[in-house]
Amino acid sequence: MKRIEIKQLLTKPYLEGQVHVAGWIRTARQSSNVGFIELNDGSQFGNLQIVYDKDLSNFDQINKLGLSAAIEVWGEVILTPQMKQPLEIRASEIRVMGDSAKDYPLQKKRHSLEYLRTQLTLRPRTNTFMAVFRVRSILSMAIHRFFQDRDYVYIQTPILTSADAEGAGEMFQVTSLDLNNLPLTESGNVDYSKELFGKKMGLTVSGQLSVEPFALTYSKVYTFGPTFRAENSNTVRHANEFWMIEPEISFCDLDGMMDIIEEMVKYLIDYVLEKAPQEMKFFNDRIDNSLLDRLEVVRSSQFARITYTEAIQLLKDSGRSFEYPPVWGQEIQTEHEKYLAGELFKQPVFVTDYPTDAKAFYMKLSPDGKTVRACDLLVPAIGEIVGGSQREDNYERLKAEMERRGMPIDDYQWYLDLRRYGSAVHSGFGLGFDRMIQYLTGIANIRDVQAYPRTPNNAEF
Ligand code: 4AD
Ligand code: MG
Repeated sequence: MKRIEIKQLLTKPYLEGQVHVAGWIRTARQSSNVGFIELNDGSQFGNLQIVYDKDLSNFDQINKLGLSAAIEVWGEVILTPQMKQPLEIRASEIRVMGDSAKDYPLQKKRHSLEYLRTQLTLRPRTNTFMAVFRVRSILSMAIHRFFQDRDYVYIQTPILTSADAEGAGEMFQVTSLDLNNLPLTESGNVDYSKELFGKKMGLTVSGQLSVEPFALTYSKVYTFGPTFRAENSNTVRHANEFWMIEPEISFCDLDGMMDIIEEMVKYLIDYVLEKAPQEMKFFNDRIDNSLLDRLEVVRSSQFARITYTEAIQLLKDSGRSFEYPPVWGQEIQTEHEKYLAGELFKQPVFVTDYPTDAKAFYMKLSPDGKTVRACDLLVPAIGEIVGGSQREDNYERLKAEMERRGMPIDDYQWYLDLRRYGSAVHSGFGLGFDRMIQYLTGIANIRDVQAYPRTPNNAEF
């Protein structure tokens, strides 16, 4: 008899009869004559109840199985319309594939997320993480759907690169050289010409610079891949390896781009609510009771748009004593972002037109000469989930800004030259994929939405 997945059994109108299922024991309880097993095969969030009794030849063996043992079951479907689950299986045969040792670390009790972080290979078996990683998968699809349906071209930009796209010096260096026996130049510096690529290389911090040439070809493109930042930030929203979606759009200015970001965020919410209703209900019940209400408000409201200058004024007027007092020209800190999005607007808010020195070199300089046409999208609880800008499309102005920052112009001549060969107004943004998952699930810590988080002093497996 062919095995049927539990999702198929529970979601398709089912004819009574014999079935064959397999899965892992989530919970089990038994008395002297009868036992109940909650079985999960990962095909869907909920479990399937298996009932078995003393007629099984291996009744005693089954009773002694450990939590998370893998079993196969043959039995009859019993419809149970009065129960929570529409049906259960009355087992006629249960075979043990792999028992689970008594030291299984996730015995039946509620474990803290902190403890589960020490069990990265087993935590996907808990309800919380089973829901998180399925939503992560579904959201990946939603991203591609959104952009593909709108005729964007997906470009895979390199992970190994020599370009520090954000110019923030947060690149991990990658080398093929023997660190204990480095080739040196006459002046005693590392001789990178001996490097496999003939130059100093690193892991990408952003695919933006590599994707801009494609935006000036296809008009609408996006990247979706891993990015790396060698920053020593120990917060709940920073990881050293994270995924980012970076759309880049020609013939589109900052305002047009904010419309796209807003449409995208609402689409992603709708998509996940539709495709993962059980998981989203679970997050609302167990992780954050205001989640579904909050997402509903976001879907139906218009995002606020304020300038950086207005944001600083609002922070000053708030009467709050912030750890970092708001000062024009200084960065907007996480605490400021949380106040603006979480307390003042209570919904996503775009902050635009940042001071030039607070942002990267490639942003479009405003006529005032002091600010750039950038936007960050701030959301309650998390703060920034999107950062983007209109790009500087004027060759001379971009070159002057790069020189002012002391960048090695030669290395970026190819990027500058895009402004000489058919320069066009264009804009792009980066959506932090992991932060978007946090936002959609209510999970507070980025370490709990990544399968194998990489954060300072923490990179297991
Ligand atoms: O604001 P960022 O640094 O922007 C860029 O990299 C631009 N090149 C994007 C572009 O215009 N194409 O990063 C974009 C987003 C942030 O808003 C945040 O959501 C996420 O990436 N992000 C991080 N997520 C997790 N951990 C980190 N350390 C992150 N740094 C940025
Ligand atoms: Mg940013």
